[in-house]
Amino acid sequence: MSDAPHVPLASLTGSADPAVGRAFSSLDPQSGLRRLAAAEDLLTPSTAGKSFHIETFGCQMNVHDSEKVAGVLLERGYSPVDDPLAADVIFYNTCSIREKAAQKVFSRLGQHRGPAGRGKIIGVLGCVAQQEGEEIFERAPWVSLVCGSASYRRLPDLLAELESGNRRVMGLDTDTDETFETEITRRDNPFRAYLTIIEGCDKACSYCVVPYTRGPERSRSSDSILREVRELASLGYSEIQLLGQTVNSYRDPSPRALSFADLLFAVAETPGIRRVRFTTSHPRDFGPDIVAAIDAHPSICDHVHLPVQSGSTSVLRRMLRTYTRDEYLEKIAMLRSARRPIAISTDIIVGFPGENANEFSETLSLLDLVQYDQIFSFKFSPRPHTPAEHMEDALSEEEKGSRLSELQERQREIQLRRNQSFAGHSFEVLVDNRGHKSGQWAGRTSSNRVVNFASPRPDLLGQYVQVRVTQAGPNSLLGDLV
Ligand code: 5AD
Ligand code: SF4
Repeated sequence: MSDAPHVPLASLTGSADPAVGRAFSSLDPQSGLRRLAAAEDLLTPSTAGKSFHIETFGCQMNVHDSEKVAGVLLERGYSPVDDPLAADVIFYNTCSIREKAAQKVFSRLGQHRGPAGRGKIIGVLGCVAQQEGEEIFERAPWVSLVCGSASYRRLPDLLAELESGNRRVMGLDTDTDETFETEITRRDNPFRAYLTIIEGCDKACSYCVVPYTRGPERSRSSDSILREVRELASLGYSEIQLLGQTVNSYRDPSPRALSFADLLFAVAETPGIRRVRFTTSHPRDFGPDIVAAIDAHPSICDHVHLPVQSGSTSVLRRMLRTYTRDEYLEKIAMLRSARRPIAISTDIIVGFPGENANEFSETLSLLDLVQYDQIFSFKFSPRPHTPAEHMEDALSEEEKGSRLSELQERQREIQLRRNQSFAGHSFEVLVDNRGHKSGQWAGRTSSNRVVNFASPRPDLLGQYVQVRVTQAGPNSLLGDLV
């Protein structure tokens, strides 16, 4: 994950990305139907007419994992429903990156206690499953499936066991060297396709549960990635988002041995693909070849998410981030030297154990230096099995909260200033959402800025349009269709 999010926990905090945090509800006309027809052939008497509901928490990796799990369920003959209480199979794909996220699932599970959950398959997937394991059955005995992300390849077998009457099944391996690919991933967004290229994480940041919950790094072969990209293009997807906790640590296991930058370029070259994004990058593995690829191909989006976590070298050392403040700033200088401007976003943790006032002020001064386009910021949350869990942590929650507010306020001013500088400029926007009122639309620029605009046209979803910015707020732009 870097880092996170990866686009961090967007579903918990109210993401602008319509795909994040949504349950599987509507059929995707472009990717779903053709595949669904094939899936119907596989209906078995035990699953015919049965329904499922998946709720996803956490990062885009989780969102995409849920799309793959949905594919597995469709293949077995289940159909998606909106209402979890009406579903025969209810899966929670969970996040444990911070304690609050991890607690959420238990309140959800409470809804199915007693008669409400009788006769249903209730499953916990993802990071909380991996972390809590069998204890979930003890806390919520009506749960019948617990499966971590490194074991998703076993899901069809686990489901078959439940369908044939087994009461409880579990998949908790993390030593798998395989990635989870399905023939029928059911993508939830008809224009933007997520595609995992590397799973797990081999970094060992001292605060982070991910290496523990998602297992070691394993990359997918470039042949298989590019084959899927061609297929996605033929289904009408125009934006590909390559995913990995440390996406730029990608190592092609096939004889072609493409570097990450080569792979980016090859994806961008695929006919029909107009935008390529990637998240999350780790600063240590971020080299000039990635910047060169962005410069060389207009379809590679001019946005990089490069989590820094702290602006203080001493905190970075305690976090085991493997770079100093100055080394990180060298990466920023590399990005700033690109031929076209590249938007930069980051993740920051405040209140890491032992963070003193001076160390915190170095994070504030880093914001001033870098002038990020967006930050995702979090209070440190001690996580089980991590070295930082037992580090001496003298800061009160109040102090962490006030540092977080100060940081966010500083960044708000920076973002507002940056966004205001775009007034009068025109951008190409991929329209990906309708506004609350009719005739209002929202989309994203290549640099990942959200732009709202009005148009009476009924058919803009999935279209690329030019929008001229008229007004700017800290988090979005307002414009007119050109
Ligand atoms: N406490 C607070 N924030 C964390 N993150 C990861 N682990 C923790 C933790 N224990 C943040 C990091 C990471 C993002 C996805 O979540 O900033 O990049
Ligand atoms: Fe990201 Fe570090 Fe966690 Fe790996 S260990 S997912 S690099 S924060």
